[in-house]
Amino acid sequence: SPCYQLKSQLCPRQNPQCHMTGEKTGHYSANACLLPICCLYGAAVTTVEGVGSTETRVHPVQERLAKCHGSQCGFCSPGMVMSIYTLLRNYPEPTPEQMIAALAGNLCRCTGYRPILDACKTFCKVSSISLSVACLYTVICVSSEFGETVSTSLFSIDEFQPLDPTQELIFPPELMRMAENQPKRTLFFHGERMTWISPVSLDELLDLKAAHPKAPLVVGNTGVGPEMKFRGVFHPVVIAPARIPDLNVVKYTEDGLTLGAACSLSVAKDVLTNAISEFPEEKTKVFCAVLKQLRTLGGEQIRNVASLGGNIISRKSTSDLNPVLAASNCVLSLASRGKKRRIPLSDIFAGVGNNTITPEEILVSVHIPHSRKGEYVCAFRQAPRRENALSITNAGMRVLFEEGTDIIKDLSIFYGGAASTTVCAKQTCSALTGRHWNEQTLDEACRLILKEIAVPGSASGEKVDYKKTLIISFFYRFFLEVLQSLKTTDPYHYPGIPVEYGSVLQDFKTKMPQKPDQSPQDPVGRPIMHQSGIKHATGEAVYIDDLPSVDGELFLAVVTSSRAHAKIVSIDTSEALKVPGVFDVISAHDVPATNEFYYSDDPEIVFARNKVICVGQIVCAVVADSDVHAKQAAAKVKIEYEVLEPVILTIEEAIKHNSFFEPKRKLEQGNVDQAFETVDNIIEGEIHIGGQEHFYMETQSVLAVPKGEDKEMDVYVSTQHPAVIQEMVAASLGVPANRIMCHVKRVGGAFGGKLLKSGLLASVAAVAAKKTGRAVRFILSRGDDMLITGGRHPFIGKYKVGFMNDGRIRAVDVNYYINGGCTPDESVLVAAVSLLKMDNAYKIPNLRCWAYACKTNLPSNTAFRGFGFPQSALVTETWITEVADKTGLSPEKIREINMYKENEQTHFKQKLDPQNLIRCWNECMEKSAYYSRKKAANEFNKQNYWKKKGIAIVPLKFPFGLGTRYLSQASALVHIYTDGSVLLTHGGIEMGQGIHTKMIQVASRELNIPMSSIHFCETSTTTVPNACASAGSAGTDVNGMAVKDACQTLLKRLQPIINKNPKGTWNEWIKEAFEQSVSLSATGYFRGYNENMDWEKGEGQPFTYFLFGAACSEVEINCLTGDHKNLRTDIVMDIGCSINPAVDIGQIEGAFVQGIGLYTMEELKYSPEGVLYTRGPDQYKIPAVCDIPEQFSVSLLSSSQNPHAIYASKGIGEAGLFLGCSVFFALRDAVTSVRNERGLKTTFVLNSPLTAEQIRASCADDFTEMVTETLYWNSPGLV
Ligand SMILES: Cc1cc2nc3c(=O)[nH]c(=O)nc-3n(C[C@H](O)[C@H](O)[C@H](O)COP(=O)(O)OP(=O)(O)OC[C@H]3O[C@@H](n4cnc5c(N)ncnc54)[C@H](O)[C@@H]3O)c2cc1C
Ligand code: FES
Repeated sequence: SPCYQLKSQLCPRQNPQCHMTGEKTGHYSANACLLPICCLYGAAVTTVEGVGSTETRVHPVQERLAKCHGSQCGFCSPGMVMSIYTLLRNYPEPTPEQMIAALAGNLCRCTGYRPILDACKTFCKVSSISLSVACLYTVICVSSEFGETVSTSLFSIDEFQPLDPTQELIFPPELMRMAENQPKRTLFFHGERMTWISPVSLDELLDLKAAHPKAPLVVGNTGVGPEMKFRGVFHPVVIAPARIPDLNVVKYTEDGLTLGAACSLSVAKDVLTNAISEFPEEKTKVFCAVLKQLRTLGGEQIRNVASLGGNIISRKSTSDLNPVLAASNCVLSLASRGKKRRIPLSDIFAGVGNNTITPEEILVSVHIPHSRKGEYVCAFRQAPRRENALSITNAGMRVLFEEGTDIIKDLSIFYGGAASTTVCAKQTCSALTGRHWNEQTLDEACRLILKEIAVPGSASGEKVDYKKTLIISFFYRFFLEVLQSLKTTDPYHYPGIPVEYGSVLQDFKTKMPQKPDQSPQDPVGRPIMHQSGIKHATGEAVYIDDLPSVDGELFLAVVTSSRAHAKIVSIDTSEALKVPGVFDVISAHDVPATNEFYYSDDPEIVFARNKVICVGQIVCAVVADSDVHAKQAAAKVKIEYEVLEPVILTIEEAIKHNSFFEPKRKLEQGNVDQAFETVDNIIEGEIHIGGQEHFYMETQSVLAVPKGEDKEMDVYVSTQHPAVIQEMVAASLGVPANRIMCHVKRVGGAFGGKLLKSGLLASVAAVAAKKTGRAVRFILSRGDDMLITGGRHPFIGKYKVGFMNDGRIRAVDVNYYINGGCTPDESVLVAAVSLLKMDNAYKIPNLRCWAYACKTNLPSNTAFRGFGFPQSALVTETWITEVADKTGLSPEKIREINMYKENEQTHFKQKLDPQNLIRCWNECMEKSAYYSRKKAANEFNKQNYWKKKGIAIVPLKFPFGLGTRYLSQASALVHIYTDGSVLLTHGGIEMGQGIHTKMIQVASRELNIPMSSIHFCETSTTTVPNACASAGSAGTDVNGMAVKDACQTLLKRLQPIINKNPKGTWNEWIKEAFEQSVSLSATGYFRGYNENMDWEKGEGQPFTYFLFGAACSEVEINCLTGDHKNLRTDIVMDIGCSINPAVDIGQIEGAFVQGIGLYTMEELKYSPEGVLYTRGPDQYKIPAVCDIPEQFSVSLLSSSQNPHAIYASKGIGEAGLFLGCSVFFALRDAVTSVRNERGLKTTFVLNSPLTAEQIRASCADDFTEMVTETLYWNSPGLV
């Protein structure tokens, strides 16, 4: 299976579990696409299909994941199942900590992890917690339309099959016998291009290494694999030493512990954990420091295969082990033919003597010494995400004191991430030897370290200042740690550190999330499991790339522009065409009809013709007999460019060049200029909000199959909008739409990213299929998907706000600029929606706002959950907070004072009843115990200097609507077959939001038959024509109406038969209807909502109703590193009468966590030439398990009705995302308390995402000052 992601979570759906032979059978999860098949000799592999299936038996892990609603789009589910299953094979009753650790390497973009962890908890020892958590979701349904009351819970533990370890697959006896009986011999695997040799003795290995000095030693392949896969490195010979006993030793010696170089990091972790429990504390300080790094290094899947030796020898600058191992005087045992030697690891990095490792040398083992009396060792790391992310900077430090004193006898300090390899602060250490461990030493150490450790600017755009600040902050942390330890030896002489500094010595830990105490909620409907939940968990759910291959099928790889704005001088395909298996190269000249689509003045482009307008634009495509061949050939296409001016990348540059997509939008209400003259205060400011990558788990995928007659083509696409695919493919091929059949079974996540962009990609595949007459499969790699398809619009908000001293905001003048990228897509609409929704929950009497969609040379940006609202409302909440700062009132007071209070009008004169907004706000205040927790946070802040807590509560008003009637029309088609079974289809797309489940619920209710009698097969342009996109939270609303309509039509036809035989069964009625020639098939239709907007007048009814909500979040920050922990979030949402609370809560939580990503983590980085650096999960961090709040509660507002939508529900897909900004403002609150304490300026700007780097910079202190003014350093008492 091709790799869907780079690094962190390779092949989430192909996550096999290996049973390794040996003394004991062990179970390890691993990433399939990093695991060379040759290294599986003697191992048994279990994939998700082997764990269980609907054909045989669904495994309890699969069942519980599905029934606890732990899958939405389902694309991550097999990976989740394998991680949990593996853990349970090793520990049938794991602790919550083990569970959290097992999932640290898995990513999910839909669920927000809470339901996945709920499923996990049911297996944990302390299951009493889990039970109470699950039951707290108890819901009562009071549906107005049906007058029916249902009491239920999100899932019922009684339904689960028990986990019975005796029923698991056994390790195959033949492999067991083979391991026991067969003598070990060298294995050779010869492939087309490479040879894999697996020797069994050290001598043999040394001979091989001498014979092939350039051949890498591959153990876990986590270093070599990605290089070969993604960076084009090729090795004709590979030596795999994992079976050699000398390289697997685990030996306790007098003075420490020796670990073979091939030991996996998981083995190293277990051995160290064991040793720490066995040896006296004094001896295990090195072990503890190494173990600390191992806990967060990679994910479990990586640690299970990656070797200790591999990590050391690769000598990557980001190695978390080398600094601590080097600082701790670990010794390497090296061997080459006829020669063995032992060298301290520190010598390699400190450049002592001639101690480099030669190419023919191999690392046999590593000796990790015991610590001694008076010796202290620490390791530190700071990464963009706390777990499963490479460090930005890390460190290992050790100090040994003269006996009974605090005089430094030996000091070593090593850093990673600062330069291209681990570096040693050698001069600093020798200068400080003989000094006392006190403030003067600290002062000098920091200065010396900054002087000695050069931090060159990095290509990936990380700020040098941040790294430098971390480097000395780590030393300061070490200083505190040691001071505190000295206290335990002699409290009289060493008083330790002030109490308020103590908490910084505790690292943030990821805990199983809990639900805060709260009373049961009252949403409506039943929490029905996702219709495909079980199939997601068993791996049976089919996505585009799972479709069986079609005879003669070709694979497509694209060639993209490497320039942001340039003329194409020539395209040389000669080398590419020589690659074996290549069929053809397709370009703009091959498009039979439309290559440029004009939906506005500027076109959307399939293939670049003559010029390119962004890096990542598709210039041509190669089709070949395999994915590998297509990619190899694509890399050989040579394009010559002539750079064109100007190259516009940023919003500022677009403003300078007056480069915009038209029209610009404006809304104005009241008399703004006059109001500014009468206000007490005016603030002006600007906030920058970065873009966001959709990071749907299933990348953009198309399979185009020409049918061979009448120019018909089947197009299978991962899209939210089959009708636009049909339209664009037909237009590109120059055939009528009735020849193009677009099919969508399910989509592995979309979030707005699979609309127009999927249409262009489908055209690429269809043109290739037309030209070659073959089926063409086009699956974007993660890197290409991130590069080509754009994402959420980066934003700048410039505001001027006039307000009274009592906090009333009277006038706002604001300009929004969004970076649209190189083609219009929906940018003008996004800009418009950002204006319409910018007021969020506030009444602003005098308001003028403009929105500009900037035309730049970045890849074209597109729709993304929230559609402009998450950005413009963040701008609003920012100036609200600034008004609070200026007036001295609290932010929640300013929010309350300015909130919509009674029936009022929005800034475009639409009526609004804010009753439920106020209810949500009050309930959230109450449920979160806001005021008492705020007090507690303030108390904590007084007692802790280097750690601070922050809390914030943010309201939400989310208008629902698409602005025009025709965009919300919908159709459905319902067939009843003579056996009584029902086939349902509608225009909505299942992309994780559970729409098919809800539609089956609707049909079941309307026809009054069980859900099990109703089947949904696929969305297709052949059954429902001209369907609108599944977008804008509207899917359930509009398709639900259409399904209801179709079912009612059928029921009406059946009614006379039912009336005649009221006691009959459904099947009898259907049989009778057929015999009476009553049609058993009906379409249903919904005309759409009567929405309109007059931009000339700035008035209208663009929305049908409003959703409301509020979220309160609390965080804790580490002022020394900028790291933070999300402690608790309480959300109250008004979503009317929920049709399926499990699905809806899932949408709220998933969106909220995606919002946390947007506002605090996810950072897109570009080169000055417009090349996107962040092209995979190793560089771009979306939230993982460690990022969700430790306490997380979502409740639905009770007794809320919505007369405008199906069964009084409300469309909930997008609204929750904005609430992620409660974390942003909680962080701001924490930073504010740092700044207040330190007497720093009260006005300060925080941009989004609010990363660790920004938090650290905002918590200015002597260290940050020292970095910026290295010349001037005064230390007014760091301690
Ligand atoms: C998703 C992901 C996340 C990661 N996260 C982290 C992280 O957070 N922190 C961190 O420090 N690292 C991280 N890494 C790096 C990982 O720890 C290293 O890649 C791994 O330890 C290398 O071990 P390996 O057995 O897989 O090496 P291989 O890929 O098998 O080999 C790597 C190199 O080491 C050489 N080598 C291996 N063994 C020997 C030996 N005995 N003697 C001589 N040469 C040898 C090989 O010749 C080769 O050049 C991550 C990697 C991935 C893929
Ligand atoms: S359900 Fe996890 S990625 Fe969609």
